[in-house]
Amino acid sequence: MYEIEKVSPGVVRPLRHKVLRPNLPFEASCLPSDNDPDAIHFTLKKDDTILSVASLYSESLEGMPNKNAYRLRGMATEPAKQRKGFGAMVLHGAMDHLKKETDVEIVWCNARVTAFGFYEKMGFTILGEVFDIPNLGHHKTGFIEL
Ligand SMILES: CC(C)(COP(=O)(O)OP(=O)(O)OC[C@H]1O[C@@H](n2cnc3c(N)ncnc32)[C@H](O)[C@@H]1OP(=O)(O)O)[C@@H](O)C(=O)NCCC(=O)NCCS
Repeated sequence: MYEIEKVSPGVVRPLRHKVLRPNLPFEASCLPSDNDPDAIHFTLKKDDTILSVASLYSESLEGMPNKNAYRLRGMATEPAKQRKGFGAMVLHGAMDHLKKETDVEIVWCNARVTAFGFYEKMGFTILGEVFDIPNLGHHKTGFIEL
């Protein structure tokens, strides 16, 4: 019924734009590493409707340069479907994939302050000071060991 699929970056961009960058032009939903060979994009779908998306990029975490790390970006659930478990499903699917297919040790992200609770529920540790990302608001770094 629910399907987690590995997809091309173009498939995740419409929901990424709608949820994360609605006030910016559509091109702002293209991230510079989207087409890197190690980048992986996931959707959670039900009946061909995309409910949640997540993307992962091979990128080390400052302060932990010796850990094999993937960076989570573009984590977004369809607004009307938030808080129903779909973000957790796609993120767990993505991390299970990484554990099976790569030598990943940690996954990290720059988490919006409004989403700290989600990442904490997922087992992430939120680190350090709040910093501002222009147009996107206040963030802290979070990570989880896999
Ligand atoms: C953050 C987001 C991706 C979470 O996806 P979701 O589908 O709503 O999350 P889930 O329903 O799977 O939530 C899993 C758990 O985290 C909790 N949670 C989800 N979002 C939360 C939030 N913003 N604050 C606190 N807790 C949150 C849920 O209540 C749930 O807890 P439970 O297991 O006790 O029921 C989604 O709400 C979203 O797209 N938000 C806007 C965009 C955004 O902020 N993205 C992250 C950018 S860093």
